[in-house]
Amino acid sequence: MRTNKKEAGAADFTFEGKRVSFPVYEGSRGERALDISALRRETGLVTYDPGLVNTGICSSDITFVDGEKGLVLHRGCNIEDLAEQCMFLEVAYLLIMGKLPTLDEQSKFSSLMNEHSLIHEDMQHFFRNYPEHAHPMAVLSAMVVSLSSFYPEMDTESVTERIDNTVARLLSKVRTLAAFSYKKFIGEPFVYPSYKLRYCENFLNMMFSSPVHDYIIDPVVEKALNLFLILHADHEQNCSTTVVRTVGSSGANLYASISAGICALWGPLHGGANQAVIEMLDTIHESGDSVAKVIQAAKSKDSKIRLMGFGHRIYKAYDPRARIAKKACKSLLEHLRLSDPLLDIAVELEEAALRDPYFQEKNLYPNVDFYTGIAYRAMGIPSNMFTVIFAIGRLPGWIAQWLENSRDAEQKLMRPRQIYTGIAQQVFVNTKDR
Ligand code: CMC
Repeated sequence: MRTNKKEAGAADFTFEGKRVSFPVYEGSRGERALDISALRRETGLVTYDPGLVNTGICSSDITFVDGEKGLVLHRGCNIEDLAEQCMFLEVAYLLIMGKLPTLDEQSKFSSLMNEHSLIHEDMQHFFRNYPEHAHPMAVLSAMVVSLSSFYPEMDTESVTERIDNTVARLLSKVRTLAAFSYKKFIGEPFVYPSYKLRYCENFLNMMFSSPVHDYIIDPVVEKALNLFLILHADHEQNCSTTVVRTVGSSGANLYASISAGICALWGPLHGGANQAVIEMLDTIHESGDSVAKVIQAAKSKDSKIRLMGFGHRIYKAYDPRARIAKKACKSLLEHLRLSDPLLDIAVELEEAALRDPYFQEKNLYPNVDFYTGIAYRAMGIPSNMFTVIFAIGRLPGWIAQWLENSRDAEQKLMRPRQIYTGIAQQVFVNTKDR
C-alpha cells in the first residue's frame, strides 16, 4: 500500500519583488522536499541542478537511503537483516510486490521462475552473430530489449494482474541471458537452466559447467553470490534506475526501459566501477606502485585518476553495503583457502584513504563496488562479467521502480529544462554563400 507524502507547510520565495509560496512535502522518514513545479509559471525561472544532485524526481515507497547515517531500508527492512537472512528471490519479491513472501508464495514464485527460465531457441542466433569477445554488458542489453519481440505478451501483462508472470519471466530469463553472454564470450556451448537448482545455483551452473565437465556447486559460493545480489537489489534513484523510470515515462515497455538501465549501469562511475576497481588493483599489483603514490594521484587536481570504488553521491558515511561486502569477501576467500594479493592491496588502500585528510574532508568511503570484484574473482567470474552480476542483482529494483512509476498518477513524461547558452540568433546563409 502506497503511503502518500504529507504536506508539511510551505516555503516563501521572493524574486524581482514577487513573493510566491511553494508547498513543502514530508516523507515517512522525515525528509522534506520543496515542490517547485509552479516556479516557472509564477516567476519565469527554471531550476538549475546539473546531475540532479538535489532534485527529487518522484515519491517512492520502495527504498530509503540515509547517506549521512549509512542506512539502507527496503520496504522498511534493514539491508543487514535481508543480507543475512534472505534468499535473493525473497528480497526481489519484497521490492516488487511490497511484502516478504510467505512460504507458499515463495514456492509459487520459484516454480514460475523455473517455468520461464528458458529463452526462445531463435534468440541463440543473435548470440552467434556477436563478434568474439563482445562485452557481456552490450550483449545483455541488446538481448533484454529483444525479449520484447519474442515475448510481446509480457508488455501487456506488466500492467495487469499477471505481473507475477512478467516479473518471474524477466528475473529468470535475464539470468539465463547473462550466463549465455559469458559462454558466448569464452566460446563454449550454452548450458541450459535446470529445474532442480535454486536461483544462484542455476546461474553458477550455467556459467561454469560444460558438456565435458560438471560443476560442483559449493554452497558457500552460492550463499556469497546470493548475498552480493541482495546488496545490489535496489538503491533508490541512482543513475540506472532514473534511466529506467525516464524511458518508462515515455510509455516504452519494461524490457526497453531495463535494457536502457543496463547501458547506464555499464559506465565506470556507476556499476562499471566493480570492473574498474579490479583493473586499478591489478595495475597497482603489476606495476608495483606504492599505495601512497596511487592515493596521491587520486587526489591530484591535474590527474583524471579517481580511487575507483570510493565515494558516492549520497553517502557521507561508510556505505553499509560495502561493510557487508568486505566481510563476505574475506570469509569467502578464507573458505576457498585463497590468498589474493589484490585483497591485501585493497585493504591497504582503504586504510590509507581513510587516514588521509583529502578523503576525510570530502567524506569519501569505500562503496559497494570496492570489495565485490575480489569475491567474484575468487568465484572464477571474469572481470568483464562483474557489472553483469550487478545488473542481475539490480533487476528487481528496476522492475519495482518501473512499476511504481507507471502506476503513479503524479508521474508525467520526464522532460527537464535547460539554460540555453548557444548563439542567440544568426542570419541563415545558403550553402552556396557559406
Ligand atoms: N577519488 C578521488 N576523489 C574523488 C572521488 C574518488 N573516488 N570521488 C569523489 N572525489 C572528489 C572529487 O574530485 C570532488 O573533489 P572537488 O570537490 O575537489 O572537485 C569531490 O570528491 C566530489 O566529487 P563529485 O564527483 O562532485 O561527487 P559526485 O557525487 O558527483 O560523485 C561518484 C560520485 C561516485 C561519481 C564519485 O565519487 C566517483 O567518481 N567515484 C569513483 C567511481 C565509483 O566508485 N563509482 C561507484 C559508485 S557506487 C555504486 C553505484 O551506485 O553505482
